Amino acid sequence: MDTAPQARSAEAQKLKIVIVGHVDHGKSTLVGRLCFDTDSLPQGKAEQIRKACEAEGMEFEYAFLLDALLEEQEQNITIDTTQIQFRTGKRNYVIIDAPGHKEFLKNMITGAAHADAAILLIDAKEGVQEQSRRHGYLLSLLGIRQVVVAVNKMDLVGYDANAFRAITEAYGAFLQELGVQPRAFIPISAKLGENIARRSQLMPWFDGHPILDALDHFDLPPSGDQLPLRLVVQDVYRFDARRIIAGRVEAGKLRVGDELVFWPDRKRSTVKSIETWPQPNAHTEVSSGQSVGITLSEQIFVERGQVATLADDVMVEGREFKAKLFWLENEPLRLNEPVTLKLATAEVEARVIEMTRVLDSSSLDVHQARDLIQKNEAAEVRLRVRKPLAFDNADLIQQTGRFVLSKGARIGGGGIILGAHYPASASEAVASSNLSWTAHEVTAEARIDHFGHRGAVIWLTGLSGAGKSTLAVSLEAALLRRGIAAFILDGDNLRHGLCSDLGFSDRDRAENIRRAGEVAKLMAEAGLVVISALISPFAAERARVRNLCETVGIPFCEVFVNAPLAVCEQRDPKHLYQKARRGEIQGFTGIDAPYEPPANPDLELRTDQINRETCLALLGERVLDLTRRIDPGSSSPMI
Ligand code: ADX
Repeated sequence: MDTAPQARSAEAQKLKIVIVGHVDHGKSTLVGRLCFDTDSLPQGKAEQIRKACEAEGMEFEYAFLLDALLEEQEQNITIDTTQIQFRTGKRNYVIIDAPGHKEFLKNMITGAAHADAAILLIDAKEGVQEQSRRHGYLLSLLGIRQVVVAVNKMDLVGYDANAFRAITEAYGAFLQELGVQPRAFIPISAKLGENIARRSQLMPWFDGHPILDALDHFDLPPSGDQLPLRLVVQDVYRFDARRIIAGRVEAGKLRVGDELVFWPDRKRSTVKSIETWPQPNAHTEVSSGQSVGITLSEQIFVERGQVATLADDVMVEGREFKAKLFWLENEPLRLNEPVTLKLATAEVEARVIEMTRVLDSSSLDVHQARDLIQKNEAAEVRLRVRKPLAFDNADLIQQTGRFVLSKGARIGGGGIILGAHYPASASEAVASSNLSWTAHEVTAEARIDHFGHRGAVIWLTGLSGAGKSTLAVSLEAALLRRGIAAFILDGDNLRHGLCSDLGFSDRDRAENIRRAGEVAKLMAEAGLVVISALISPFAAERARVRNLCETVGIPFCEVFVNAPLAVCEQRDPKHLYQKARRGEIQGFTGIDAPYEPPANPDLELRTDQINRETCLALLGERVLDLTRRIDPGSSSPMI
């Protein structure tokens, strides 16, 4: 139990960096130069290569140093990541590299390797190219925040300040769009050692730091012990009267006497003992990375899959989150396909409900919205899990911010959670926890969390035969397919039950609308998207329903399903217009009863002019807008 801490603290002192850039932009030369200038090469290595070059009549290149180092590594390691180390006066560095983007992305996302910082390399002569843009995107996808841009081969442009500035401006603007904010742009020549270890005399116009100083200004990630406590429960064993919780301290420190909260249930108890063997009570404290058995003062129900934090700390808890995903299986991952998600020891059925930018890891081509992720593609996704899950943002705590997805027994891919929103305080989180299990105390926010969207009322109004019911039926199905809980309130159907006592007098119709409005509001409060399909001929009654909804914060959308009377009459799906014309029905809307068209509908659908698919698309768009849950941590919508 006690062996690891020292080794870990040495490990923690290393800053892991990755260098991304087009092969020809001088990556190997920069790595070779960094090692050489920091005196980090094995004894005599540089000399040996210099001699070898002379013997071959070749010009010495720093890139050869890297090749030689890599060759040595290849004999020792089997993993597809290489690690080159160098050190400055301040600290140790590891340059992690992989044979291609595919391996790099896979390693980063699945946790096989992790970079704390990046150097983005651009060729001063070639300027910003498509590749450079893709590399910027790569970093934004992985959420690497500490970035410097090195503009290399300044010697080839005569150390010209304007060439450097042009790149800085163009690339800076592009990176900003991606949300990547480089700490610095540095003009360098890796080949000639300009602005690598020392400030270049040849570029007096540049007043920033050379590369190594810029790296030294990066922050080290906190070591495991400095992080907040995350005790992942592996099992609960019963010995005589005692219940021992076996788990692993994935982050932070655990001490006897700590008050813990177990997520996602949020049950509290205090650590009574840390079980040790063969001597009892040998430890009162456990560090990150260690496995442990503990007993609690109060007997609470704890199970595998839960994660304990200190009582004043919070995790994010929910059924939906944004993630970056890497897919490894031949069989693609499809939208809404059920898969098993494993995060720490929790295992739960999950579906990807949205795939925004999908990135081909070899070509770095980006596809905007897709409905499947192919082998070796990375994507930004939104995942929904079947039951509440406790997790962290991966950039805060890796161990509880990382997950794998499997189809059957095979691991299909891995991902990191980014952009999840923490409750403001532990008390807020714990207070709302008391609410989530008792129906009448459930908050609107908890319902939104549950459904993953807001409730809303979509009020279709129009003549009989205009297309309300047809659109409502298709819309309901389309929304459910997208994971949005929806339900239709259809005029005809209501009149079989709730409104079976009502006829078609003005008064009865007003009452009909009032009842449907009240029910729609209740169902939307319960979290559903209610699609109402009633003629609802009176503008004042419709306005009343809108008011009813909006005063309790339910979005209301009045949709005028509009087809001219002549068209409705010609369609006459139920042959009611015929009957009305024959006088067999009295007071039929449009014939001898009024219809007041909306003066300012939120949406008007001319069903005689546009087809059903277009109407549905317009409706769907509107519903997504209204039901979208805004993620306070970002400007982008949560759905
Ligand atoms: S509303 O006017 O009160 O909103 P609602 O949508 O519930 O009407 O019911 C309309 C349906 O009732 C029509 O689609 C039609 O099938 C049937 N119906 C029977 N009599 C009438 C009538 N006099 N006017 C309109 N619809 C009628």
